[in-house]
Amino acid sequence: MADVKAKILIVDDETNIHYSFEKILGSDYDIASAQTAEDGLLKLEKLHPDVVVMDIKMPGMNGLEALKRMRDIDGRVPVVMMTAHGSMDTAIKAMKYGAFEYLLKPFDIDRMREVIQKAFQSSQLMRRSVRVASEKGEKTDISGDMIVGTSEAMQEVYKLIGQVAAQDVTVLIRGDSGTGKELVARAIYHHSRRAKAPFLEVNCAALPENLLESELFGYEKGAFTGATERRIGKFEQVDGGTLFLDEIGEMSLVTQAKILRVIQYGEFNRVGGNTVIRNNVRLLAATNRNLEEMIKKGEFREDLYYRLNVITVPLPELQERKEDIPQLIEYFLARYGKDTGRSIQGVDKKAMKKLMDYAWPGNVRQLENCIRRAMVLAKGVTITAEDLELEAVSEEALLPRQNEDDALDAIIDQIVQGSSQTQLWPEMEKRLIEKVLVKTRGNQVQAARVLGIHRNTLRNRIDRYGLNALISGG
Ligand SMILES: Nc1ncnc2c1ncn2[C@@H]1O[C@H](COP(=O)(O)OP(=O)(O)OP(=O)(O)O)[C@@H](O)[C@H]1O
Ligand SMILES: [Mg+2]
Repeated sequence: MADVKAKILIVDDETNIHYSFEKILGSDYDIASAQTAEDGLLKLEKLHPDVVVMDIKMPGMNGLEALKRMRDIDGRVPVVMMTAHGSMDTAIKAMKYGAFEYLLKPFDIDRMREVIQKAFQSSQLMRRSVRVASEKGEKTDISGDMIVGTSEAMQEVYKLIGQVAAQDVTVLIRGDSGTGKELVARAIYHHSRRAKAPFLEVNCAALPENLLESELFGYEKGAFTGATERRIGKFEQVDGGTLFLDEIGEMSLVTQAKILRVIQYGEFNRVGGNTVIRNNVRLLAATNRNLEEMIKKGEFREDLYYRLNVITVPLPELQERKEDIPQLIEYFLARYGKDTGRSIQGVDKKAMKKLMDYAWPGNVRQLENCIRRAMVLAKGVTITAEDLELEAVSEEALLPRQNEDDALDAIIDQIVQGSSQTQLWPEMEKRLIEKVLVKTRGNQVQAARVLGIHRNTLRNRIDRYGLNALISGG
């Protein structure tokens, strides 16, 4: 969202570093500087930066000590540590103390941008409060995120959130795509006793199996080819806080077993390690999959299911709560009025009927996108039926997806059988970016938004995959 510029606090005793950050990131971010750790701590409290980037080696208080204190002041600010090559041990220690990530000096600028962008996104997840619409009967307020809807089905959801938030238990959030699972996870976090501690999210569908394991549990040096240093995983990093496992239906059986152990005994090993690591993390999980069916097919562990299913928050489909549509529309109009610079007052009668009659297979996300697009297309201050682009929902709409699926299956089979040397993730990423660039006619800003990645990341991938021919000039 193009709100105000994100604020980054750079803590380093070297003037050069401040100069480089200003030069590289100054146009995208609002940059504040501190020359000592002590000053960094003061500025953290005074300026409320979104992200801190801090050197480890500084005269006076060092970066590790400052990191610990920052975590006590506000555990929600991601701290990226900088360190010279050759001091990996300290960098790894910093991760154990909850640093968001580390960067090795001298910087790889693309990586630095990517890390800072990720840290900022993570910061947004923790910072942007999520309120429940029925709280104190509030009207639309766009300063944070809001769960909108007063239907009976949503009242049930609010009741559940209220009941589970303050208890330190694992919660399973279930619902179709776009029904608000992530929003609910963040609402639970915000209303929990861990609200000032960090919240990290891992999307289990976004990573291939072995990378997911590493991401969650970390790994030891030498655990596999390429594991040149120990790596701290999210479970360790978020100690004391909340971990949101999105799309747990996509986890492999091996990873499922490891998660079960964490829930049962609060312990795990890093990949390739023998040391048992104990910690204290609250787990929130979400899925749109039919876990019961998956159990029958042997794809999901029954014992893990029972552990997760103790407290479930089921989210209704939008179709089951159509009476909430007008309120949702009002909310999105207010919310995106700022972004699009267009003040749209409402939707006319015919448009409203169209919106109420539609089936919304993509649920609230689809409604949100539809309204956002209509706001751009609208000629006057009211959205008309012509401004709404709603695809007919038919059996056929599902067909291309089937073909896509088959194509994917074929690639996976080739790799599994060893007849192809490609790696799945880069291949998928490339195809996806290609598709989006074609659809957006090479508009990088739009493509980055569609893909949900920073435009610098997109630029980097375009170079990597040689897709320069697809981007539009200017
Ligand atoms: N009740 C709601 N009130 C306001 N906005 C909502 C509501 N539910 C969902 N949204 C918005 O719809 C979009 C999708 O929500 P979210 O990402 O939480 O869905 P999800 O269930 O996690 O979807 P997916 O399964 O596709 O990941 C977000 O932009 C979110 O802010
Ligand atoms: Mg989601």
